[in-house]
This record gives sequence, C-alpha cells and structure tokens, in this order.
Amino acid sequence: MRTTHTLKPEPSDSRCVPRLDDPVTVGGLRLRNRLYRTPLLECAGTDSETADTLRSELEPAAAAGAGLVCQGATVVRGEGGCAAPGMTRVHDDEFVAGLAPVPDAVEAHGGRVFAQLEHGGLRSMEVWHAGYRSAHPDLDQLAVSDPPLPLRAADRLGLLDVSPRVLSTDAVYDLAADFGRAAGRLADAGYHGVHVAGANMGIVQQFLSPFYNRRSDEFADGGRFLEVLYDEVRERTDAPLIAKLPAETRAPPGIRRHLSADDCVALCERAAEIGFDAVAPVSGSVFWDMHIVRGEYPERAWADDRFQAGYADAFGSRWRAKLVSLANRVQARRASFEPAWNADLCRRVRERVDVPVMLEGGVRERERIDRLLGDACDLVGMGRPFYAEPRLPARLLDDPDAAVVCENCNNCAVPQAAGVDGVCRTPEVLAERGRLAREGAYETSEED
Ligand SMILES: Cc1cc2nc3c(=O)[nH]c(=O)nc-3n(C[C@H](O)[C@H](O)[C@H](O)COP(=O)(O)O)c2cc1C
Ligand code: SF4
Repeated sequence: MRTTHTLKPEPSDSRCVPRLDDPVTVGGLRLRNRLYRTPLLECAGTDSETADTLRSELEPAAAAGAGLVCQGATVVRGEGGCAAPGMTRVHDDEFVAGLAPVPDAVEAHGGRVFAQLEHGGLRSMEVWHAGYRSAHPDLDQLAVSDPPLPLRAADRLGLLDVSPRVLSTDAVYDLAADFGRAAGRLADAGYHGVHVAGANMGIVQQFLSPFYNRRSDEFADGGRFLEVLYDEVRERTDAPLIAKLPAETRAPPGIRRHLSADDCVALCERAAEIGFDAVAPVSGSVFWDMHIVRGEYPERAWADDRFQAGYADAFGSRWRAKLVSLANRVQARRASFEPAWNADLCRRVRERVDVPVMLEGGVRERERIDRLLGDACDLVGMGRPFYAEPRLPARLLDDPDAAVVCENCNNCAVPQAAGVDGVCRTPEVLAERGRLAREGAYETSEED
C-alpha cells in the first residue's frame, strides 16, 4: 500500500508562519500543537511494571501540553537486538495489549503518543556489553553485511565481540515483518502512531548506510528495506508512520563510505514517496557516539562511584571502562553543542518533501523555535530537556521568552550503559526546576 501526500501542513489561520501552538496534521492525525518529546529510552523493561513506568515517564509531557510524545525505542523481537539495558520488547500480543494505559493516559490529556520500533543489529548489547554477552552466549548478532573494518579492528582489540550472522534475503523479509507485527500490536493497544528508529546506528540505519550495507541482493538499496517495512506495517495498521533518518556527516575522517547530507535528503524524499507520514532528519556518525547528543563530556556520571560496577560489567573491566570514558572525553570535543544543529539539514529536506519535517537536536529556546517553524521544520522536538523538566511544555507554550534549563552535560545519558534510569543528575539544573515549580511555571490552566 502506498500513500500520496499532496499538502504541506498549514497553520490553522491565515498566517503563513505557524506558531508552536498551532495544530498540525501527521498522517491524518491532528496534533494540538507542534511540540513533541523526542524518543528517549525509558528503561521500562518488559515485565508487569512496564506500563506503569512508561506512563509515569510520558504522561507529564502530555499533561503539560505536548502535542506529541514519542516513546523511546522498543525492540521488535523477543530475543537480542537491545541497544541498551532495560529496553522494552514488543513482540508479544498479550504483553503489548497490557500497555494500553499508556496511550489512554496521554490521550486523556489531549496528547498523542507514538511508539518507536527498533532492532540494534550490530549496535546490540550482544556485541558491545560484556556482561550481557557472557550471560547470553548463544544469541545471534544480526548483521546487514560482514562488519566493516573498524568494527573488526575493535573486535581484535577486545573492545567488542563481533561474530555476526549476516541476514539472508528471506531473513530480511522476516525482520521487516517483525516491525510490521509490532506496529500492529501497538496500534491495537491504542498507540496513535509508529516511529521507526532509523538513525541511532540500529539495524535500520545499518541498511541505509553504505558503511554497513555491502549486500548484493535487492537490499543493497537500503531504501528497499524501508519499502518492505512500510508494506508490512500497512498490512496491519493505518496509524501514522514516521521515521528518524540519518546523515552520517560526522563520521570520523578517513571513513569514506557514509551517508552525506545529500544522501539524507534523498532518503527523506524516498521515505515520503513510499508513504511515511513525517520524517525527522538527524546528523550523526556511522558509530554510536555523542553526535546524536551533542554537548559536554559527562564528568560527573563517569566519576560517580554508584555506577562503576555497572560500567565494568558493560565494558568488561574497570580499565576498559576507563578507556571508553577517555574516548568519550576526546569525542566530546568534536561533538560540542550547537543550537538546533539539524536545522539546515531539515530545511533542505523541507524544500523537497510534502510531509511534515520534524526538527530535533539542540532545540532550546522558544524565540529560536518561532523562527525555525515554517522555515526549517513543521514540528520541533526536545529530548534531554524533558529529563530535566518533565512538564516543560507548560513553560514553552506559555512564555515567548522561555528557554530550557537543561545544560547539555550528558550526565543523564552515559549511566544508561550501566543499566540505570535516564534522569537529570545535575544539582543546579534540578534546583532551577524546583524554583520554577514553586513559581507555578509548570502549571496549566487546562489540559486539552
Ligand atoms: C539518554 C538518551 C536516550 C535516547 N534514546 C533514544 C531513542 O530511544 N530513540 C531515538 O530515536 N533517539 C533517542 N535519543 C536521541 C533523542 O531523541 C534526541 O534526538 C537527542 O537527544 C537530541 O535532542 P536533544 O538535544 O533535545 O536532547 C536518546 C537521547 C538520550 C540523551
Ligand atoms: S543531566 Fe540534566 S542538565 Fe545534563 S543533559 Fe541530562 S537533563 Fe540536561
């Protein structure tokens, strides 16, 4: 099934330039405004508590007015494929039906929630997480092709354990069908839409990227995987389907095979032609590194005694964890923060597609948001600022001078490798949130 998009989303009145609080339509679904929470790992696991955990993570954003809340990546299979500890699996009908209180709670506040679908492929814990690997020695590592040289070198140095099973053509179809089945289950549970994790170095990016994809069958064309995945989803649900799509412009020098900004624009056009209902173009690298969360080296998180055992378990020993933290320090210099760092890329995409373009990455101030909407993008999203201020939309929607309190220090991000929750860990930022809360900055007069 293919969809033809003909209309660019327009603001609700005669103004040409949309405002943050103008509604927007994504795949036929009306969102009350253009502010979304980007997908962020909730570390909600797969157990009887998952629905409660997801609800407590996502409901505040909706209650405070977000138009759209994107649930963090969930894994389409029952085994393997988790990029980080604590990810939720969505392979089981009964379990996913039990997540219904999440969309119910978001909808009760007038918001909408999309669930993100993922499989880690060569970014999975069975490749990089030493403790997980020894606990699950028989897990298959799914790969699009034989791993590229830098990954094989990391394997020889003992930093990774790369022993992949390259997917046959039939196995690729099976994988796409798992994405489709997961989408169908989530839609049946009441989720309002589905988000494909195409840009976090997971298996979808591995299909799209010439760094990973050296196949000779029909899937040598990475966009073909998007087509098959789309068809599998559409066999089961008409819910809006969106994708985050990568440019690998921050690949280390010397890595010649990567997705350029032009490639990303072409991929977004292809996705829109296939029928995807919105795209979120993001720049990053071919590796899982700090370019998707540009900011500071997380000094406090690496030094925190409470996480040392978890880091050692993840990276194989304390000294290896030190090596990873050193690499992180070097890399943070290359991946320093830049406001709205994907704006130029999104603007280029927006000139070429007729579906909404979603901008995320370093969006921080209302004044800049107002300038970007209708120019570079149709919706704006934020990730880390929601860890710092779960009720952030109340402030941003209400105050034309509002700016987030998050300082991009990344102390919320790194500890997730040690299996702990993604929460803001910066005392000054939490103190500022407390002050704003006491002033009533997060209160809303109405929640619909
Ligand atoms: C701890 C953490 C977890 C994340 N998890 C996901 C995820 O599950 N799926 C995804 O597409 N992006 C994920 N992201 C990326 C965010 O969605 C977002 O693109 C990124 O943080 C940049 O936006 P920001 O500068 O507003 O934080 C994650 C980011 C962080 C910091
Ligand atoms: S720890 Fe807090 S201030 Fe630092 S990046 Fe995360 S949310 Fe922002």
